[in-house]
Amino acid sequence: MTCVLAIETSCDETSVAIVNKDYRILAQTTRTQEEHSRFGGVVPEVAARRHYELLPLLFQKTLQEAGLKMPQIDFIAVTNGPGLIGSLLVGLSFAKGLAYAFRKPLVGIHHLEAHIASVRLIRPEWEFPALALIASGGHTHLVLLSSWTSFRVIAKTRDDAIGEAFDKTAKMLELGYPGGPIIDRLSRRGDPHRYLFAVPNMRDESMDFSYSGLKTSVLHMLKQKPELFQPKTEGNPSQDTLDLLASFQECAVEQLIDRLKKSLMVNTVKSLFVVGGVAANSLLRQKVEDLVRSFNLELGIPGIEFCTDNAAMVGAAAFTRIHDAPSLLTFDYPTITGMDARATWPLDS
Ligand code: KG4
Ligand code: ZN
Repeated sequence: MTCVLAIETSCDETSVAIVNKDYRILAQTTRTQEEHSRFGGVVPEVAARRHYELLPLLFQKTLQEAGLKMPQIDFIAVTNGPGLIGSLLVGLSFAKGLAYAFRKPLVGIHHLEAHIASVRLIRPEWEFPALALIASGGHTHLVLLSSWTSFRVIAKTRDDAIGEAFDKTAKMLELGYPGGPIIDRLSRRGDPHRYLFAVPNMRDESMDFSYSGLKTSVLHMLKQKPELFQPKTEGNPSQDTLDLLASFQECAVEQLIDRLKKSLMVNTVKSLFVVGGVAANSLLRQKVEDLVRSFNLELGIPGIEFCTDNAAMVGAAAFTRIHDAPSLLTFDYPTITGMDARATWPLDS
């Protein structure tokens, strides 16, 4: 049984998983770093230090849970970009050390490639062509895939990512971090049609996204009528705040649906993948269910735990990569030492 030990530390989740060649997870331990909550966003130095403390512990725990020892692991995979450079360096250095000490091959994985591969944890094979929406804290991409390894980015955000818009809106209202799950939960008690925010269209008819205007509209409302949006505690926000959050979420999600519809109108695909942290959003999940029904598509949307950052998806991406390049499965000292962490790294480069 070929299996990979996978490591993910690109942002504020520390995660280690062991996945086998059938895309089955033998064990996974993930720790979401809570210490960023009081800052309203991830503090890069704090994240790197916390990965440094947690990674050896999670590594041991994951091996124990799988009932395996390092000699039984066939190779190691690690996210080496894009992400926070300090966080990436901690994961990559740990992976390099392991690879060298145990003479195991090491595979570096692009974070967005891993998000796409997360659908293989639901079931290994999907029909192509496929359209993938990657919606996370740092990225909003539409990717057209003719196979797992042949794809084209057809749209991306021109400013903020959708997850960032959720996080910044929650921060403005002092609701905590990460904003996505908090707004998702509170929106259920609000009226999504109380405040009208417009879905932006690009002048050049591209399908690119833009979220900074929505964030600024929320900010203007808060400045104009501060008395309406009190109190700012998560436990008991005013009805106006709940309505504002629900209206914000409605517009943010509607922009994704609008771009998906337009893309599906001009691209014939068989499968739709919706991945990344924002794929955990309950409104988005409901709306894409409706969409795939009307376009008669197979929907690949991972369980909530595999939408946000996790190491199992890194393992899934590694097996996908090895399938095309089996030579990666050899211990190669220069490749291991030369592998770099990359803070920015376009998916289609
Ligand atoms: O993929 P991810 O874990 O990390 C990045 O690669 O960025 O995504 C994290 C993002 C955060 O912005 C978080 O607020 C958002 O995903 N998120 C959500 C939900 N759960 C997480 N956004 C909306 N609704 C949710 N339920
Ligand atoms: Zn991510």
